[in-house]
Amino acid sequence: MKALVFQGPGQTAWQDVPDPAIKDAADAIVRVDAVTICGTDLHIVKGDVPEVTPGRILGHEAVGTVVEIGGDVHTVRPGDRVLISCISSCGRCSYCRESRYGQCRGGGGWVLGHTIDGAQAEYVRVPFADLSVHLLPSAVESHDAVLLADIFPTSYEVGVLNGKVRPGDTVVVVGAGPIGLAAIATARLYSPGRIIAVDLAESRLAAARAFGADATAGATEQPEQLVADLTDGLGADVVIEAVGVPEAFEMCTRMVRPGGRVANIGVHGKPATLHLEDLWIKDVTITTGLVDTSSTPMLLRMMAAGRLPGGELVTHRFELGQMEEAYDVFSRAGDTGALKVVLGGPQHDVVASAAGHETDGA
Ligand SMILES: NC(=O)c1ccc[n+]([C@@H]2O[C@H](COP(=O)([O-])OP(=O)(O)OC[C@H]3O[C@@H](n4cnc5c(N)ncnc54)[C@H](O)[C@@H]3O)[C@@H](O)[C@H]2O)c1
Ligand SMILES: [Zn+2]
Ligand SMILES: [Zn+2]
Repeated sequence: MKALVFQGPGQTAWQDVPDPAIKDAADAIVRVDAVTICGTDLHIVKGDVPEVTPGRILGHEAVGTVVEIGGDVHTVRPGDRVLISCISSCGRCSYCRESRYGQCRGGGGWVLGHTIDGAQAEYVRVPFADLSVHLLPSAVESHDAVLLADIFPTSYEVGVLNGKVRPGDTVVVVGAGPIGLAAIATARLYSPGRIIAVDLAESRLAAARAFGADATAGATEQPEQLVADLTDGLGADVVIEAVGVPEAFEMCTRMVRPGGRVANIGVHGKPATLHLEDLWIKDVTITTGLVDTSSTPMLLRMMAAGRLPGGELVTHRFELGQMEEAYDVFSRAGDTGALKVVLGGPQHDVVASAAGHETDGA
């Protein structure tokens, strides 16, 4: 099959690789019908995530059709259309028992496209399939559902829930990429008083306004002054970091009000300075986190009910084989206007297995 292979910092290639095979009885092999690229993939390609070693197939956000299951898989079968969560769950370790799947100690957690081969490929092996994929209702299109693999649960859990957004709050979202936009959309579920978005790219600020930001500021245009002006000099109740660079995190800690909360979502490759000399007296709470995806079933119900924006986030569609072009478009989002790029198309009537034989998709 073809897959996007990481070759070391700055280098990837869409190339021939062996088809994945069942390794463990809890595995499923899934044919990828829709897959997307994450800001985290850009961090990996930059070299910010050193656990990803050359030869690794990238990608952790996909929808596909099950083609083969191990003997221990009971909840899905060949032909099922499933959401592949970016987080896998062993279901047995102490963290999984508390629904904290991101911290799984039993071989799950964020493994796809990280420590095992991922989903930017024609087929992917998903470990612990019973707990790591979600059956999709027909009301949800594959190219919308792919947004539930990572960005919606991440923005909701690591941004909105960790930040404890409450009615009336002033919420600042720094970074208006797909993660920041999904944070705006899910923060609105709690009726904040005002949402302010900050980004470097005007196209992303325009998207933030379309997603419900009440005010926007360029990151180099004194966003701290805007936040101060809008909050009588106090600062924001909640500041969500959705970039992953030191400047953005440090800006967040300068924008938060005494007693407020900074929720970091960004994946950081370099240390950021924690200005405790200013912060110690302010009673601020700073949270970090990897998504658990414990909210995915709820978000899936909301998407099926039409209560989450889906298609609006997808600006570009590609064939699977146009992976390198899709990376280029996504990585130059400031110029291309890209939000989420989705590759592949829904094709869930007949299932052609990795082995080449065909099974009825019923
Ligand atoms: N914690 C998790 O579980 C988790 C999961 C998924 C993604 N992430 C991370 O979330 C972050 C955002 O992901 P994304 O897919 O939206 O990425 P993205 O690269 O598309 O978006 C980042 C945005 O930040 C903006 N930006 C860059 N520097 C800035 C600055 N100094 N100030 C303000 N804005 C700035 C960019 O213009 C861009 O719009 C990434 O760091 C990603 O790795 C974390
Ligand atoms: Zn991701
Ligand atoms: Zn576990």
